[in-house]
Amino acid sequence: MEDQIIKEILVTEDQIKKRVKELGEQITKDYQGKEPVVVGILKGAVVFLSDLIRELKIPIHIDFMAVSSYGKSSMSTGEVRIIKDLDFSVEGKDIIIVEDIIDTGLTLGYLKELLNKRGAKSVKICTLLDKPERRKVDIDVDYKGFIIPDEFIIGYGLDFNEKYRNYSFVAALKEEYYK
Ligand code: XMP
Ligand code: MG
Repeated sequence: MEDQIIKEILVTEDQIKKRVKELGEQITKDYQGKEPVVVGILKGAVVFLSDLIRELKIPIHIDFMAVSSYGKSSMSTGEVRIIKDLDFSVEGKDIIIVEDIIDTGLTLGYLKELLNKRGAKSVKICTLLDKPERRKVDIDVDYKGFIIPDEFIIGYGLDFNEKYRNYSFVAALKEEYYK
């Protein structure tokens, strides 16, 4: 049974639904009269992004980027490699980067600076989860779903060896599977 890998459910499906709605309302308010580009970071942010954008009652554009992350090991290397770049230019655009989780902050720190350098009008960050205990770089998180403890997380887009992204809740993986 797959659920043997779960140590604890940290955020339930209902809690996620409620929070995503709230984040959507907040972003809708903050971006009145604007047409932001929502940039999803593949693949982890896909589930969160698809729910979040349906709570945005403003015109938006969607684009995606893929960057190197944990891969098959659970260690963050600090190196950010672009595997898939955006399809469209960000010049003069209001950008909302949507991410599944902020851990060390290295990935989003790098991406935010990159999009600013490319001439974005504004760059804000929206993450479903925040693991502040492991932060290595200071980073402003504009929209945040939940603060979670330093655990390996799966579900609602997050994977372990590419599995469990389809779980509708967020859970901590048992240590024996990744340590
Ligand atoms: P940094 O350290 O740059 O990490 O903030 C960002 C990326 O690391 C991935 N990450 C995780 N993925 N469970 C996962 O499935 C986790 O617990 C976890 N912690 C970090 C994530 O993809 C993020 O983009
Ligand atoms: Mg990710």
